[in-house]
Amino acid sequence: MAELKVLFATSEVAPLIKTGGLADVSSALPAALRAIGVDVRVLLPGYNQVMAKLVQYQVVATFDDLPGFPSARLLSSTMAHNVPLLVLDCPSLYQREGGPYQNALGHDWADNALRFGLLSQVAAVLGCSDSPLSWHPDLVHCNDWQTGLTPAYLHFAPGAVPSIIAIHNLAFQGNFPPVTVQQLHLPTSCFSIDGLEFYGNMSFLKAGLFYADHITTVSPNYAKEIQQEELGFGMQGLLTMRRDSLTGILNGIDTDEWNPESDPYLVKQFNSANMSGKAANKEALQRKMGLNIEPDVPLLGVVSRFTHQKGLDLLLDIAPILTEFPVQLVMLGKGDAQLQKTARDLWRHYPGKISAVIGFSEELSHLIEAGADMFVMPSRFEPCGLNQLYSQCYGTPPIVHATGGLVDSVVDCTTETLDDGTASGFTFDGMTDENLYTAIRRAVNLYHVKNKWETLRKNCMAKNFSWQSSAQAYRAVYLKVLSA
Ligand code: ADP
Ligand code: GLC
Repeated sequence: MAELKVLFATSEVAPLIKTGGLADVSSALPAALRAIGVDVRVLLPGYNQVMAKLVQYQVVATFDDLPGFPSARLLSSTMAHNVPLLVLDCPSLYQREGGPYQNALGHDWADNALRFGLLSQVAAVLGCSDSPLSWHPDLVHCNDWQTGLTPAYLHFAPGAVPSIIAIHNLAFQGNFPPVTVQQLHLPTSCFSIDGLEFYGNMSFLKAGLFYADHITTVSPNYAKEIQQEELGFGMQGLLTMRRDSLTGILNGIDTDEWNPESDPYLVKQFNSANMSGKAANKEALQRKMGLNIEPDVPLLGVVSRFTHQKGLDLLLDIAPILTEFPVQLVMLGKGDAQLQKTARDLWRHYPGKISAVIGFSEELSHLIEAGADMFVMPSRFEPCGLNQLYSQCYGTPPIVHATGGLVDSVVDCTTETLDDGTASGFTFDGMTDENLYTAIRRAVNLYHVKNKWETLRKNCMAKNFSWQSSAQAYRAVYLKVLSA
């Protein structure tokens, strides 16, 4: 077969625009696929932040008559790792002050259906025989609800290529009132249970899950969990019905970006053979965050969206008693106003022991991964999670709730797993303060047994989370779809 050509449609790509892990994946996976011979090109909306970083581009297409949508242009450029990038330029929809999905006050943009309807529609146009580009993909790879309508548009278009949709988070579904179906010029017949109707609304995500030729998600364990009521977010019936077309593939990490041997954000680089740099980063982090300089007090790190999903409420509840162990706690994140306030209050009440930065900082996130002794991720659900992968690479054992991709990527530390060299962190079942407390207690106890802690760190750093094997798994899915 000639080289496989894939259009990768996404709503975020690091470092151009990032709210979470989807941006990291959309940057690293296309590069890893290109390295194994798949011709991937990425389609991304031209938000302010993206346009500001676009140095060179060519206009390769204009769309003046897509029914229901304003005029738009397609700009061709390249992104990190020399991956070809197609930017969908439509200033009235994408160029505004604020985030990709929400305004500065944290409210969803009122025209999100139109904004991501256009992204989905253009991805579909590029996958049809009358595409304005000379490059024709064999398949369109959609990601999350923002490109969920692409498989529907493709389904109803003549001469369309197949599509897959990757679920990064089933909790975000892009549900809008039924009238949206007409507004976005989809056939009214698709507003049905066998289509994109979802509890009386139309759902971008359900459209993707129903019409795509194959569904992937970002870890094998999450692929199972989403077929159950508890984590299926109402889609479990459809996902169970489509289980033969559902594949869980664990995310990898960009090892150029996340490598303690070369990370420019660290005050001193390190590797498993020479860990002295880790202590230097711990001290730098303590200093930067106004914590007491205590080399032997375990330092817990958090980098997270502050949302219900991430379970930080549990950690904030028990933070005061943790300081008595003693431990120190450093948190970086933003989101829910109440969680932000609680984090700030703790910082005020426990100076030198607890510190929080409310905001988004790539630089500080790297320093926390490197300088903390343990990384805490008590997520209620976690499709994959990337921070626990980064933390293991940086010799910072993660403490995680046993859910989703955290189960697939962290091996709980027991006498047995420490002996057989597989232990890489601490996991707990059951989302309670007590269970998280016990897991942190176990970690702190081991921290004080220096030789065992060293072994645990080395195990973490020996793990291979590169994208190589996962990129092969995506390629296998593409080939399966194309041969069906
Ligand atoms: P999710 O996508 O659900 O937020 P992941 O663990 O998959 O969770 O990915 C989160 C990504 O976003 C990681 O790269 C993490 O470092 C980054 N991140 C989250 N919050 C912040 C923040 N406040 N500052 C910097 N990076 C952040
Ligand atoms: C989502 C999930 C996260 C996953 C990321 C990238 O944001 O919440 O678990 O790692 O997507 O796939």
